[in-house]
Amino acid sequence: MGATAKRVHITTFGCQMNEYDSGRLAGLLAELGYERAEAPQEADLILVNTCSVRQRAEHKVYSLVGALKELKQRRPGLIIGVGGCVAQQEGQKLLDQIPHLDLVFGTGALERLPELLEEAGRGHRRALVDLPAAPARQPLRAPARAGLKALVTVMEGCDNFCSYCVVPHVRGRERSRPAAEVIAEAAGLTQAGAREITLLGQNVNSYRDPGEGLDFPGLLKRLCGLPQLTRLTFTTSHPKDLSFRLMEALAGLDKVMKKLHLPAQSGSDRVLKAMGRGYTRRQYLDKVEGLRRLVPGVALGGDIIVGFPGESEEDFEQSLELLELAGYDFLYSFKYSDRPFTRASRLSGKLSEEVKAQRLARLHARQNQLVLELHRSLAGQVVQVLVEGPAKKGAGLLTGRCQAGRAVNFPGPPELAGGLARVRIEEGLVNSLRGRLLPA
Ligand code: SAH
Ligand code: SF4
Ligand code: F3S
Repeated sequence: MGATAKRVHITTFGCQMNEYDSGRLAGLLAELGYERAEAPQEADLILVNTCSVRQRAEHKVYSLVGALKELKQRRPGLIIGVGGCVAQQEGQKLLDQIPHLDLVFGTGALERLPELLEEAGRGHRRALVDLPAAPARQPLRAPARAGLKALVTVMEGCDNFCSYCVVPHVRGRERSRPAAEVIAEAAGLTQAGAREITLLGQNVNSYRDPGEGLDFPGLLKRLCGLPQLTRLTFTTSHPKDLSFRLMEALAGLDKVMKKLHLPAQSGSDRVLKAMGRGYTRRQYLDKVEGLRRLVPGVALGGDIIVGFPGESEEDFEQSLELLELAGYDFLYSFKYSDRPFTRASRLSGKLSEEVKAQRLARLHARQNQLVLELHRSLAGQVVQVLVEGPAKKGAGLLTGRCQAGRAVNFPGPPELAGGLARVRIEEGLVNSLRGRLLPA
């Protein structure tokens, strides 16, 4: 009997960039002969890809890795590793605090995992946390089969240093991947079955090909040339860098989805200034207005932080009001959380958990009302849906997303999965739209 393949289990926290990185890790390990383990109990290697953006995310890592101690005691050959943003932030400290941890790899050390694994096999525990000046260069072999939706990182890192944010500290300075590499990776994914690609970067507007200088709208245009690609979308855009050229690309390129994630963070000028965001409420709303003029029906997404140090009731009410003025289709909202290395963590005027929780609940309630009105106003429209498959709830219902990224459920035959359907919207709900299939 031949040796059985080694197996790896990866847990991923945090944003889509971490999801993408975990996919890369899985690819890298597949090349070393690792297969996927469904559960940690079945794995020879357990990796946790971590997020540090809020304190709670960081705590989850300690409890999860802590709980693996027993498994390690039973099977000393098991290798446990922590990667991602907490790994980058804490480095060697993680190894010091968690004796049953074997290896730590920061956000820039992902490609060097094979080296760490070999050392761990020899009983040598190590943390690698140097941030490289350039993103990883080796494009991985495209998977044989990809899902309908795939992610491609185009740039990594951030130079903005918003006063509350740990990301520039754990992802390093902005660096873009060569366009040729991005296009090759996207082409491989579409050949493997992907139809919708999401381009990732902490601030995609700053994308610039390191050689020929192609900018982000230029990259979008090139990618739209991929014959098997149906849809292209991207996240995240920083409002201060959202250019007219990008709005035009959004309007003019058919395959580019009509949605934009444009985090405001606050509706109060005083708070925006303390956050170091580089725009005022007026400037933000002007961009939104310009966008709506150019791209009718565009779905806008936002992020709001409640309870930033010193945020008064009036400041908060301005954020509530911003929801209405911006008209968000989707909103991510967070309670302010102190992060290491950040300027905001040293500010006075911190608010209690209770006040932050109350403000968050008020924000949610207001947004739910607004999005319900907005979704109801869409009744009667005919949209193009990329069908994902049967809906989780509701027998005979299919689910998919319209060109603006809104979830649409409608009765239809399962064979439509993976293709485009014409659907008339009949009802708007808070989280989705209900529709009826039209003849193609
Ligand atoms: N580059 C992206 C954001 C990455 S972090 C951008 O600028 O849009 C994702 C979101 O987490 C941010 O938009 C912000 O709303 C939230 N966030 C970041 N740091 C935070 C903190 N210290 N406390 C609470 N929320 C935070
Ligand atoms: Fe963080 Fe600001 Fe950079 Fe976004 S733009 S990653 S919020 S520092
Ligand atoms: Fe979290 Fe790192 Fe993403 S801190 S949000 S996983 S870039």
